[in-house]
Amino acid sequence: MKKTETSIYEQFRRAHPRSESLFGQARAAIAGGLTHDIRHLHPFPIYADRAHGSRKWDVDGHELIDYWIGHGALILGHGHPAVRGAIANQLDRGTHYGACHELEVQWAEQVLKLNPRVERVRFVGSGTEATLLAIRLARAATGRGKIVKFEGHFHGWHDYAAVAVRPPFDRPVSAGVPQGVLDEILICPPNDWDAFITLVSGRDDIAGVILEPEGGSCGTIPTNHDFLRRLREFTRTQGIVLIFDEVITGFRLAPGGAQQRYGIYADLTTLAKILAGGLPGGAVVGSASLMDQLAFTDDPTWNREKRVWHAGTFNANPLSAAAGLATLLLLADGQIQIGADRAGEILRNGLTEVITALGVDVCVYGESSIVNLFLEPHRHGLVFDRPDSQPDHHLLMDHPNQEAYHRLRCALILHGVDFPLFHGWISAAHSDEDIEKTILAFKAALRLMRDEGAL
Ligand SMILES: Cc1ncc(COP(=O)(O)O)c(C=O)c1O
Repeated sequence: MKKTETSIYEQFRRAHPRSESLFGQARAAIAGGLTHDIRHLHPFPIYADRAHGSRKWDVDGHELIDYWIGHGALILGHGHPAVRGAIANQLDRGTHYGACHELEVQWAEQVLKLNPRVERVRFVGSGTEATLLAIRLARAATGRGKIVKFEGHFHGWHDYAAVAVRPPFDRPVSAGVPQGVLDEILICPPNDWDAFITLVSGRDDIAGVILEPEGGSCGTIPTNHDFLRRLREFTRTQGIVLIFDEVITGFRLAPGGAQQRYGIYADLTTLAKILAGGLPGGAVVGSASLMDQLAFTDDPTWNREKRVWHAGTFNANPLSAAAGLATLLLLADGQIQIGADRAGEILRNGLTEVITALGVDVCVYGESSIVNLFLEPHRHGLVFDRPDSQPDHHLLMDHPNQEAYHRLRCALILHGVDFPLFHGWISAAHSDEDIEKTILAFKAALRLMRDEGAL
């Protein structure tokens, strides 16, 4: 990134001495000074001190309207009383039993209630673990090895998912991924039926197809529903396991996730984030026939040779189960999601009006309670002019001029809003007033960007 210091960065530095100092300490103690790549911010990240509702406060005392909202996990907002109460109650009763417990059963039953087409749940530690287990289940069920993955779709950070994440899509997004792993993943451009058919035709070695149903990278590459429908039908006829990665969309797009919203159902679904109410956790859900590959039977040969093996010290830990169950109970009737969707629409429309009024080259889009941001669409020839537009996904995922995203994020923080670089999430705690203030903050931040010649 170009390290030109501008007045936005100067103001940011002046306003955040404690964060800057903590980042200095962190770099000497934590690899890269960060615990998640996406928290990287130039010139340094802000350090949070506490959070409540739609807000968080940084260590320099600034109040921020938060659109990270636990990387999308906190659809109820920070510190919802029902979730806090459930965690506090569980804290007194133990944080890890090393044993089965009643709450995990109730949690699983609630997941099934919200996803009525699903018969079994298996809890894991994170979304990354969920996609890893789903891939293993698909391979075990079919006896085949290859997995089709779409360019720009994100499924966590394990080796099988470290492929075709960002352009250039034919190169892994990380060093250290073995060629043998890369060979197992068949990469396909998203929403391109001809390309998909060309890729898979004549093959009998495909175990599964995995994708984010709302579109790659949290809807950065919007989904074509016709493509999704055809994929569903094709995989069904070919005995290929269709995996929807609903780590973001599960419980958010509807109580039953993107599948309920679109009326298109996968064979296996991966869940995390909202599932565990803001604490660590994930799950794979699906039919009994696929999921019971994990079950012990009385047959020692099955148990040793055929069964899908799975472990994990923190799977369904009681605190996550308590927070997750409390959250899912509140999400059952879909009203919270409807409210957040409405706020999402108001925010997207309000931001679009501001962008038009300022004449800056910025585009805001997305569905449900997700707001995607793209800087300089016209400059890069990005066309989003029809509902069925299929903008170039290389461009969408490349986010050219990354420096501008960092600068905008700093400018927004200076105006009381913490919005992730590429997309933000809305929670039930975001009030109409929060949305209004956010639109004004964007207006001020975009004006600063324009005045600095950054847009
Ligand atoms: C669609 C999708 N799948 C998988 C993951 C990985 O989940 P986790 O960060 O819990 O490992 C994420 C995380 O953002 C995600 O958005």
